[in-house]
Amino acid sequence: MSGKFITFEGSEGSGKSTQSKLLYQYLRRQGYKVIYLREPGSTKIGEKIRRILLDPRNKSILPVCETLLYMAARAQMVEEVIVPALKKGKIVICDRFLDSTLAYQGYGLGISIKAIKSIGDFATQGIRPDLTIFLDLAVKAGLRQCGKTKDRIEERSLRYHQRVREGYLKLAKAYPGRIKVIKVDDHKNKTQIKIRELVKDVI
Ligand code: TMP
Repeated sequence: MSGKFITFEGSEGSGKSTQSKLLYQYLRRQGYKVIYLREPGSTKIGEKIRRILLDPRNKSILPVCETLLYMAARAQMVEEVIVPALKKGKIVICDRFLDSTLAYQGYGLGISIKAIKSIGDFATQGIRPDLTIFLDLAVKAGLRQCGKTKDRIEERSLRYHQRVREGYLKLAKAYPGRIKVIKVDDHKNKTQIKIRELVKDVI
């Protein structure tokens, strides 16, 4: 597949949606064929699964069920959107991917990392990002950026969100070639410049 696959990761309020959209617009202006996706979602089915996952009323979802729902949305997006786009040589920018499940359900909820990797291989057809940008921000500072109405995941404890961030940092250590850590700067343009530098090396 001739395209390039770039993912953004980060804990709550890290600004990854803003930064990934800025990158998308920048690459389009540069004349690249690029598509923008978010997880969970970006397909009709995936957006429905997203609503189930984030609805605070769904208190009874068990960790294994939650993990499989994220994977189900991912499987739909990979086959319906990512594979065709990469085959056409496009740049695919995705706001979250498999590392999110490792961080949030693996390190955060205690689901086996080995199991997530193996279900992840199945759900993604083995597709891995060429570059993953992890936007790192202190957990408390990030949570302050979230709105007053919190979704089911945002509602979780500070300790949970700290485990998620620590998980991301472990992943970045384990895959230093693919996962690049960028400390979030107060000035969003400065963060964006660092992101563009990393992307330049991949595309
Ligand atoms: P978003 O807020 O970045 O759009 O992501 C939706 C929420 O879902 C966010 O709280 C992180 C969470 N999430 C997981 O817990 N596991 C996953 O695999 C993904 C993709 C997201």
